[in-house]
Amino acid sequence: MKVEPAVELDGHFAVPGDKSISHRSLMVGAVCDGETRVHGFGRSGDTESTLAAVRTLGVEVDEESDQLVVHGAGLRGLRSAQLDCGNAGTLARLVCGLLAFQDGTFTLVGDESLSRRPMQRVAKPLEQMGASIETTQGKLPVTIQGSRLSGITYELPVASAQIKSAVLFAALGASGSTTVLEPLPSRDHTELMLQSAGVSLARRPTSVTIEPARTLRLPEVRVPGDFSSAAPFVVAATLLPGSRITIHDVGLNPLRTGLLDVLERMGARIGVLNRRRAGHEAVGDLEVEHAELDATEIGRYEVPRLIDELPLFALAAACAHGQSRVTGAHELRLKESDRTEAVVDVLRRIGAHAQSQTDGFVVTGVPTRPRGGRIDARGDHRIAMLGAVAGLVSRDGVEIEGADTVAISFPGFFDLVDQLAVR
Ligand code: S3P
Repeated sequence: MKVEPAVELDGHFAVPGDKSISHRSLMVGAVCDGETRVHGFGRSGDTESTLAAVRTLGVEVDEESDQLVVHGAGLRGLRSAQLDCGNAGTLARLVCGLLAFQDGTFTLVGDESLSRRPMQRVAKPLEQMGASIETTQGKLPVTIQGSRLSGITYELPVASAQIKSAVLFAALGASGSTTVLEPLPSRDHTELMLQSAGVSLARRPTSVTIEPARTLRLPEVRVPGDFSSAAPFVVAATLLPGSRITIHDVGLNPLRTGLLDVLERMGARIGVLNRRRAGHEAVGDLEVEHAELDATEIGRYEVPRLIDELPLFALAAACAHGQSRVTGAHELRLKESDRTEAVVDVLRRIGAHAQSQTDGFVVTGVPTRPRGGRIDARGDHRIAMLGAVAGLVSRDGVEIEGADTVAISFPGFFDLVDQLAVR
């Protein structure tokens, strides 16, 4: 797949429903009493894995034209199964929390990329709660034998919403309260959704205490557009002179929108209109125009708020005035690919200047179009999207090996690129 250069981006559009919230709507809905109607569910490779998984666990899900209807099996109603988590880290990590207290035996497997990613980080706190969970040298396959759990106080070793959420899910079926302490705040979609489902939850800036649940009820979830799927277009429009785009109904949870703050201090022109709420989640429209950018630094405090957008930040930095740097981003090496090495490799292949460091990278910006070239998506949807944006803003275009991996989070991505690009 080759993405040719664009003169500018132009148009009004929306992006598919948020992947993090879509996964959670199915998993929480699965253990509710009664129906959960999910509007705006984001269909993608990853969320199809979760849909198939909850069905395998014995949960009925109806697909109506614009919504999914999950018929909850109740808090302890999931049945023994082998689950294929595909590429979906969020499914593999979060579902362990729910399975740990069911009456059954469960095996989790995943694709090649997911099978390389750490699971011990989830197994450890769950074991402390009394779970019987066995990993394969800290990775998938994982086997869980449902057991009685007790609440714990757990200090997360890294700011990870996936580990936090697994513990919160397990706490629903434990005896006694559970407290999770975070080194830095990570995305809080799980907390917001559990609160909507009637769970008793006390929140402080970097900790959350949750009480066991008897029953959960979540009649409706309204899933906003995925900020991470909007982000490639925000960066492309910022970099291409003459661009003007409006992205409607985007999720603007403040723990997800670090990229907006970073781009704004680099000089970007991004307006947020029609701020509103969908349930407990913040939503709005984004209006983006071209702007010249200056370099900036991102430290560990900011990283969790733009962890999935760091590859796109790197490209913005490559086209900015001056040298930019990211530190405190060890986690970037543990995603669908080693994104630190992947990002540096992509930038170099398109003629930009970047260097990897153990916990981040350094980019030396040149405020002109990068040359372009050929890149390998490494089976990682966010790297394929980085390649596509690089193609749009380049002189010669970018050829992407393995471009179809975008379907993991955004199946219609390339169609939208073609629709918006003025060539
Ligand atoms: C996610 C949390 C993040 C993020 C991932 C989705 C979630 O991972 O990178 O794409 O839905 O909770 P970590 O929690 O491991 O940082």
